[in-house]
Amino acid sequence: NSSNRKEPLIGAIIEGTEEARFVVYKAEDTREIVSCSVQITQICPQEGWLEHDPVEILQAVRECVTCGVENLEKLSYGVEDIVAVGISNQRETTIAWDVITGEPLYNAVVWSDIRTDSTVDQILAKVPENSKNALMPLCGLPISPYFSALKMRWLIDNVPAVRRAIREQRCRFGTVDTWLVWNLTGGRKGGLFITDVTNASRTMLMNIETLQWDPVLCRYFNIASNLLPEIRSSSEIYGHIKEDPLKGIPISSILGNQQSSLIGERCFKEGQAKSTYRKGCFLVYNTGLSRVHSTHGLETTVAYKMGKNIPAVYALEGSVAVAGSALKWLKNNLNILKEVSDSESAAADVPSTGDVYFVPAFSGLYAPYWRKDARGIICGLTQFTTRNHIIRAALEAVCFQTRDILEAMAKDCGHHLTKLQVDGKMTENKLLMQLQADLCGIPVEQTSAYVRMEALGVAMAAGQAEGIGVWDLYKEPEVPVVHDTFIPTTTHEERDARYSKWKMAVKRSLGWATT
Ligand code: G3P
Repeated sequence: NSSNRKEPLIGAIIEGTEEARFVVYKAEDTREIVSCSVQITQICPQEGWLEHDPVEILQAVRECVTCGVENLEKLSYGVEDIVAVGISNQRETTIAWDVITGEPLYNAVVWSDIRTDSTVDQILAKVPENSKNALMPLCGLPISPYFSALKMRWLIDNVPAVRRAIREQRCRFGTVDTWLVWNLTGGRKGGLFITDVTNASRTMLMNIETLQWDPVLCRYFNIASNLLPEIRSSSEIYGHIKEDPLKGIPISSILGNQQSSLIGERCFKEGQAKSTYRKGCFLVYNTGLSRVHSTHGLETTVAYKMGKNIPAVYALEGSVAVAGSALKWLKNNLNILKEVSDSESAAADVPSTGDVYFVPAFSGLYAPYWRKDARGIICGLTQFTTRNHIIRAALEAVCFQTRDILEAMAKDCGHHLTKLQVDGKMTENKLLMQLQADLCGIPVEQTSAYVRMEALGVAMAAGQAEGIGVWDLYKEPEVPVVHDTFIPTTTHEERDARYSKWKMAVKRSLGWATT
């Protein structure tokens, strides 16, 4: 069990919507040494609702950490070689728990859950001009069921145990990072109650300028700030893990998973952007030290803050709720795909969608529309439409939604991206990547599928933290992250003609949930 090597290792705990994972890297090396994962149960008690069991989340993390450490030992490393651990998590997902018993007061309400539809209406009724953009100057975000404050409000309004715990001063609210850190650092016995700026910037309660909980925002949602964790930077030694097998190891980075993949993709310069394609699709554009206030439906968010005394770097984000999950829906609900990975060959069997457009607005539309009343629509069907046309239209929907975001970013920032850096499981689909280049008209640079950018990014941030200092963020890695590049093969006219048809389809999806 004892190690004979001296290279410092960094651990990355990843907790995403679908799985928990533990990955270990050698400092300044992009290759994973070990990686273990455990699936998370998706609990859907009602249409539009999605929950996770917080205890299962924690157990899943513990299981993959144990498995990762065992695998490390097989490679004759020891747990003592791990000098720091970082945590990267699904964002916005909200957990309420009892600080005395340590038990959750309800399941985690997941980011894509739309139960807070009417909570959104209550808040809209209070803000100037009932505008969904009214709070953007303060928090950078539009009022939408997506963000944590709405979920907290729903928990207070609908779960008696939460209300009781608040009365008795036992309630804590947090995103998944906060829940994990609190438990791993001792839980009921003095666990740290913290979050980082990137996660806090997705709640709607943090002031995007001061990076603190904002009294005005807390008042709108009627959430007392003493229920919320302390906001820290994304990279500093917060404390030490109090349980085996990582006992005594410092936690030195916390990042929302889209922000950590921005770091993994090395988008450190203003004007660089990445897009991650999984269940949803998230395009994050580094705007440097300036907070660009979007007037075209994007979110102003914190990209990272690499130390206590280092200024925050900001980003514009375009979040798309449904990308890969549209393919899952075709597989599970319509049974027209055997495996999601078959979508590439099925879509390649037809030369085009045959003018079919699929707007997968299952939970409304996020950026740049922010329409909770939108619902999914497939249009342009004819006698000749086959399953393959619909599958291809689902792939194109991901590309068109990305183009929606790129158009909004160009308007907000004044210039077009010259290339798109992409990562995430879905990018293994080469046809999707080619369609993305063809429908947006810019080269698409794909990271090698073996690199999990959110894990790499948080390991880099944990390794660079003051007091750890084993990873120089700005040094090019010795083993570069391999890229595949897809060059557009369409003309401007072709692209625009297809895009205006997409816009027509989007128009038809809007307002569906209210008519
Ligand atoms: O904002 C939601 C995002 O963080 C979701 O993460 O795990 O579904 O890629 P994931």
